[in-house]
Parts: sequence; structure tokens; C-alpha cells
Amino acid sequence: MPARPTRVLTGITTSGTPHLGNYVGAVRPAIAASRDPGSESFYFLADLHSLIKAQDPARTQRSTLEIAATWLAAGLEPDRVWFYRQSDVPEITELTWMLTCVAGKGILNRAHAYKAAVDRNRAEGEDDDSGVTAGLFMYPVLMAADILIFNADRVPVGRDQVQHIEMARDFGQRFNHVYGREWFTLPEAVVEAHVATLPGLDGRKMSKSYDNTIPLFVPEAELRRLVFSIVTDSRAPGEPKPVEGSALYELYRAFATPEEAAAFGQAFADGIGWGEAKQRLADLLEREIAPLRARYLDLVARPGDIEDTLRDGARRLRERYATPLLAQVREAVGLRDLSQVRLGSLQEEEAPAAKPPLATFKQYREADGRFYFKLVEGERVLLQSHAFDAPREAGQAIAALRRGTLALAQAPATLGEGVDASDVRAALDAIAAADADRAAKTQA
Ligand code: TRP
Repeated sequence: MPARPTRVLTGITTSGTPHLGNYVGAVRPAIAASRDPGSESFYFLADLHSLIKAQDPARTQRSTLEIAATWLAAGLEPDRVWFYRQSDVPEITELTWMLTCVAGKGILNRAHAYKAAVDRNRAEGEDDDSGVTAGLFMYPVLMAADILIFNADRVPVGRDQVQHIEMARDFGQRFNHVYGREWFTLPEAVVEAHVATLPGLDGRKMSKSYDNTIPLFVPEAELRRLVFSIVTDSRAPGEPKPVEGSALYELYRAFATPEEAAAFGQAFADGIGWGEAKQRLADLLEREIAPLRARYLDLVARPGDIEDTLRDGARRLRERYATPLLAQVREAVGLRDLSQVRLGSLQEEEAPAAKPPLATFKQYREADGRFYFKLVEGERVLLQSHAFDAPREAGQAIAALRRGTLALAQAPATLGEGVDASDVRAALDAIAAADADRAAKTQA
């Protein structure tokens, strides 16, 4: 039984204006999922990623504001979900470099977006890398840092992003291997198969690239005008109409209860006129969108409040996870405090130093009947575990921490009052060293 909530993380590229397809396919399901009490959700504005394509500063700013306001208006609760802007967490860019130094260049060569650019160049007789920025090439490494920095377990994405999650696993695994420990959780991509892709005005998939979208927050009159421009056939009122392949019906279904959808299907069979069907669709869309639109307009009128919300999210998140994790990663790779170098240790392997008293694990059962452990150093509690159903599970977690096969950031435990992750790390290292010492002595 996992002792900490499952971490679900996804990035939202801050480009373009959100449309109904984005709302139904991404925003609405993600917000619903964020209400699952068994998970800890991380939703962020991938503004650093957006720079790869968008290099118009005013548009970048505008788009970031619109997309943040869209998620908030649609019901994302920044008190329950980590909601932040990628560029407000500098540890992400720092981790990007650490990962860059273990990432295989050959793997990046195979990334779909980069390969497509190369193929286009070849087809046009250009240099392979003509017009390709290093940013486009490195995109998957930045994305890996987004994910690994919070030890995310699950990453909901579209099918086109699955390869990037696999690369994140690869880079995380290489880092773990090179630096000898499970520093990072390896994430899994989650592709939601049941989420509807919405048809656009012309019946093809609603997409900015087909120029067939209904923007989410256009004024009501414009929404109705767009609905009336949805392509239909020449069947007259009174003639039965099939629901299969009807964009109008599909759009209706995405916003209706099952009973309403069934009734609409019946109306098709009964020969509803297209004008009336469009009227009913527009009313239905308006029912769901009107309150969101009102909140959205209110939010974008107070951009300073959105700024505060985002900054506050990033500040709390850095304090809780990003800063301690980066401290561990720096330590892992050897970007360390020089004053801690023991004299002579540069020549001799391990100079024996005065050792502080060892911390110890204590296992116990609470009045709630469940099992716990803590790591204590004298009076000080360094680490307090979550509850386990069986003593064996607590024992296994302790053993994994002792062996160093369970990263602290993933441990089913929280740091003690005022305790720094690096203190716990040092205590665990000391225990591991003592364990190894003891093992060596019994063999000798
Ligand atoms: N590349 C993703 C997209 O285009 C956005 C993104 C950036 C992302 N960083 C991420 C998604 C981390 C999931 C996890 O949709």
C-alpha cells in the first residue's frame, strides 16, 4: 500500500487561447482528477517551454495570464493543488543542467519533434539542423526536470508526449545509476483513452492548426454565432438525422448528462431542424460556460491577484520540495561545501573523523492500532513515518532507507520539526557506513 499520496503532475504550455477542445480534453478532466484525495496534484504553466516556439514577449505574457485565469476559472483550487509557473522555480532549470550531463545525446536525436524538423530540412535540401534551436533539441530534458524534481509518479499527457515521459525515465534512471542511489522516482505516462476529442466547426478534430475552434471564453453572442456556423448537411426539418458523425451531436454530448444526450439523439431521429438543434447546443454550452466566463473575466481584470497566486504556489513548493531536493542533488554530484573536505582525504581514501552519535530507527505501534517508525538522534526526531498496516511494511521501509535504495524524498515519512533533509541524509549515510563496517568485520 503506497504510504504517500500518488503524485500526479502535468505541464500546460502557455501558448494560444484555450478552446472548447482544450477544456473538454484537458482542463475539465484534470480538475476533476485533482479532487481525488488519494493524490497530490501538480499543475504548472510551462512558460519556459513556450519560449521554444513563441518569441513575442507581449504574447507570452498575455498567454500566460489567459491560461492561468482559465484554469482558475474552471475550478482549480490553488489551496489544494500545487499550481505554479515553471519559471518561478529556478531549481527546475538547475536540475535541467544536472540531467543534461547524464542524458544521452543519441536519445535526444530520436525525439519526434526534433526528428520531424530534421526530416523537413532534408526534404527541402537544407542542412539537417537548419533553423533548429538548441532549445528545441533540449526540450525533453527540461521536461524531465519538471517531472523528476517533484518525484512525480504519474504524468497525464496526450499521446504525442509519451516519448518525452519515457525519456524522463531514462534520464532519471541514468542519474540514479551514475550517482548510486534511487534519487528519483521514475514517472509513468498516463494517456486518458476515454477523454473525448471534440470536433471543431468543420467536423475535423478541434484544433488551432485547423482554424476550426470555438474559443472557450468568447462573449455569449460570439459563442452562439460560432455554434450556428458548425457545418451540417442539407437534411431538412422533419427528416430523421443520424447522430453518427455529427459534430453537433458530439459537442452536445460532451456537455450534457447521459439523459440529455439520449433525448437529443431522439430529437435527431425525430427530425429536429438544424437551426433548432444549434439553438439547443448553444443553450447547453452557455449553461456550463457562463459562470466560468464570469469568473474568468473577473480574474483577468485583476492580474495582480493571479500573479500573487502563482508566486505563492511556487514559494511554498520550493520550500517544501524543490530546494531540499536540489540540495541533495548537488551533494550527490559533488557540488559540495568545501569546508567539509577532510584534510588528507584527497590523498587517502577515507580519513577517520570524529563521528557524531549514530541515529537509530525505532519501530512502534500507536493506539490507532497501526504501525510506525521514527528515526531519532538522542531526543531529536529526524524522521517520522506515516502509518503502516503491518509491521513488516514499516520494517521494509526502514531496510530500504538503510540500504539507500529508497530516496528520502520518496520515503513514506515526513521530516521532524525543524529538521533539514540534509541532516537526515547525513544520519542515514552514517548508519549505512556503520552497517557496511559491521558487515566487513563479520566477514573478516
Ligand atoms: N510538453 C507538454 C505539452 O506540450 C507540456 C509540458 C511541459 C509537460 N513540461 C511537462 C507535460 C511536464 C507533462 C509534464 O503538452
